[in-house]
Amino acid sequence: MTSQHKKLSKLISSLAESETIAMTRKSNEMRAKGAEVISMSLGEPDFPTPQHIKDAAKRAIDNDYSHYAPVAGYPELREAIVNKFKNENHLNYDVSNIMVSNGAKHTITNILIALLDPGDEVILPAPYWVSYREMIKLAGGTAKVIETNIAHNFKISPQQLEDAISGNTKAIILNTPSNPSGAVYSEDELRELAVVIKKHPDIFVITDEVYEHIIYEGKHFSPAQIEDIREQVIVVNSVSKSFAMTGWRVGYMAAPGWLVKACSNLQGQVTSGVNSVAQMAAVEALTGPMYETEKMKNIFQKRRDIIVEAFEKMEGINVMEPQGAFYLFPDVSVLFGKEFNGRKINKADDLTWYLLEEAQVASVSGNAFGTPECIRLSYATSEENIVKAMNRITKALS
Ligand SMILES: Cc1ncc(COP(=O)(O)O)c(C=O)c1O
Repeated sequence: MTSQHKKLSKLISSLAESETIAMTRKSNEMRAKGAEVISMSLGEPDFPTPQHIKDAAKRAIDNDYSHYAPVAGYPELREAIVNKFKNENHLNYDVSNIMVSNGAKHTITNILIALLDPGDEVILPAPYWVSYREMIKLAGGTAKVIETNIAHNFKISPQQLEDAISGNTKAIILNTPSNPSGAVYSEDELRELAVVIKKHPDIFVITDEVYEHIIYEGKHFSPAQIEDIREQVIVVNSVSKSFAMTGWRVGYMAAPGWLVKACSNLQGQVTSGVNSVAQMAAVEALTGPMYETEKMKNIFQKRRDIIVEAFEKMEGINVMEPQGAFYLFPDVSVLFGKEFNGRKINKADDLTWYLLEEAQVASVSGNAFGTPECIRLSYATSEENIVKAMNRITKALS
């Protein structure tokens, strides 16, 4: 440990570095040496923000949206979010239930800091989005992981949920469609989980629905639509993935008024209201036409079909066709113990490094998501790149 590290708090020293960042660093090093690395490790749409949203932001600048915005969000944005929930999710909220933060990431962090005391547990089904675990830690809580696997389509059962609940459980985080697995819980599956949740009225369900619009079969269903547990559900969403607005940093939640108040207090002391121009862009995203979102989804679906077909041809590798989001999460454990070009693959991390060096394709080890028998490949890159990457991976593994 360097002397500089010694100055850091125990809390910050305990945070893991994002594996995606480590992979990006190594990819960049290879690119600098002339390698043509295809990145399939990123978690954002590769499209530009739709023009009508960019225009709204320009208008906001010209109309002098340049002052501190209200901490919980501009009234017109909170109103737009209320209407979004009503029209798209059949959920009725009051403006006082809505709060806007710097992306869903910030929203979830606020919620966890507001809810957790030391010793509190948050149930986390694996594979989970990498940041949840670190956010729970930051907020002083403990993650209680429920493991799933490809045989169960990476979804938890009501019995697993019941078994994971203890006297210390404060919340469960659900994420549908899921990053990294692409799994989508059906209404029936959520209703079955709700039977368990209802038996424990002090437990909150934090439902992360940022991939709501990137869903290939059927329609998104939110646990908040289940009347029996409505009061326990906190819905988190964002404009990042649905409108290709990751850099704008606008996320939001629908929650009980007391929690919105608590999170506003916290946010007011730390970051204040979200960037005023980005908020006005988000108003346009949520009230404007949806054809760009639909178009992006159709492109993602076509890419999904290509990547799934390629992986299904690779012997022994087990794939689940993603029903949403833009990631493939194949179970690659069949390769563990094998040797390729003198390199032994003992775990998913070894395979991702092998694929980077041998195929020049960047992916992320399932280890980062709590499911070490898998790797994650993002298909938020062009069809041409995907085809090229699949050819290279097939060759590297054949
Ligand atoms: C499941 C999940 N939730 C939340 C986020 C963060 O979204 P935002 O850009 O709104 O902070 C991501 C981004 O990768 C994600 O995959």
